[in-house]
Amino acid sequence: MTDSPSLPAVNREWHLLSRPVGWPKPEDFALVEAELPKPREGQVLVRNLYLSVDPYMRGRMSAAKSYVEPFELNKVMQGGAVGEVVASEAEGLSVGDHVLHSSGWREYAAVSAKHAVKVDPQAAPLSAYLGVLGMTGLTAYAGLLRVGAFKEGDAVFVSGAAGAVGSQVGQIAKLKGASRVIGSAGSDEKVRLLTEEYGFDAAFNYKNGPVWEQLKQAAPDGIDLYFDNVGGEHLEAAIGALNLRGRAVICGMISQYNATEPAPGPRNMVKILQNRLRVEGVLVGDHYDLQPQFVEEVGAWVRSGQLKYRETFVEGIDNTLDAFLGVLRGDNTGKMVVKL
Ligand SMILES: NC(=O)c1ccc[n+]([C@@H]2O[C@H](COP(=O)([O-])OP(=O)(O)OC[C@H]3O[C@@H](n4cnc5c(N)ncnc54)[C@H](OP(=O)(O)O)[C@@H]3O)[C@@H](O)[C@H]2O)c1
Repeated sequence: MTDSPSLPAVNREWHLLSRPVGWPKPEDFALVEAELPKPREGQVLVRNLYLSVDPYMRGRMSAAKSYVEPFELNKVMQGGAVGEVVASEAEGLSVGDHVLHSSGWREYAAVSAKHAVKVDPQAAPLSAYLGVLGMTGLTAYAGLLRVGAFKEGDAVFVSGAAGAVGSQVGQIAKLKGASRVIGSAGSDEKVRLLTEEYGFDAAFNYKNGPVWEQLKQAAPDGIDLYFDNVGGEHLEAAIGALNLRGRAVICGMISQYNATEPAPGPRNMVKILQNRLRVEGVLVGDHYDLQPQFVEEVGAWVRSGQLKYRETFVEGIDNTLDAFLGVLRGDNTGKMVVKL
């Protein structure tokens, strides 16, 4: 075994104590001190440098059946993380290597080498592997191009457009020849960013008036593709604006993640029939075969500056829960990342 000289005796990690009802409350969680894990045969010990906090984690805090297992109570939560190997019992990974893995929400993690992906800090900033070149980036890429079957000339509307997934969807659509890209976001500052920095043709603040009304103004000729990060009022407005044979990609429904009652569905579902619309969900895990193509194409756009991205950093393991709640509140512009 090889390891770094100075390792702490204790490890701090976030546990889920009770399943939140509605908005998660601080007392549903605890930052717990635990023994520093020892890597077993085939494992490495990773000092986490960046933790990902993502909206889907709200679903894992509930016991409801979904596409991913619920977090276990009184155990450390999981999530994407990038860190540095500080001890290795695995072939192929050495002290000093950087890896992407899914044992976030903690300072140190013993990770099986087969569940760790080596990443290159020279090729991109380490945090980018959690966002623009990571899970959220691939979601945007696969959702728009494969599930949404985007084609040149499409008019595209994306909600949550200043967030990690949404900002990338809009820019990829522009780079691939969309006729018009429209985005919605929750502040005037975010709306300005969409048109002034990301090159969206139009954008609006969904808090400033009914979505259908603002969408109609922004897309007078309707839309061909809707990328849904939000659900609710946005989805109903988009169904109303979709042109003949339009497509809606259902990526997320963040407006409903803290709901305590089932949310009412769109009232205009008959439009799906009238306009022969296709509505399909996207789950990033189904599309990892696109990873090499995604990294090559999006990586090149990032390096050339054609695709821009923002990150919102929150510092410290103590502030991880607040960073997660911040994503649900809309505190972030681009990917929310915790820097340890
Ligand atoms: N299907 C998949 O495989 C997959 C993978 C990754 C992410 N997702 C989904 O994609 C969506 C975006 O994820 P992300 O990681 O990129 O997060 P994000 O967009 O970076 O952050 C979430 C954003 O949602 C917005 N929001 C919060 N409450 C809202 C509400 N009631 N109405 C409208 N907007 C609201 C906030 O921005 P504003 O200030 O604009 O409100 C917030 O910044 C989420 O729904 C997530 O669950 C799905």
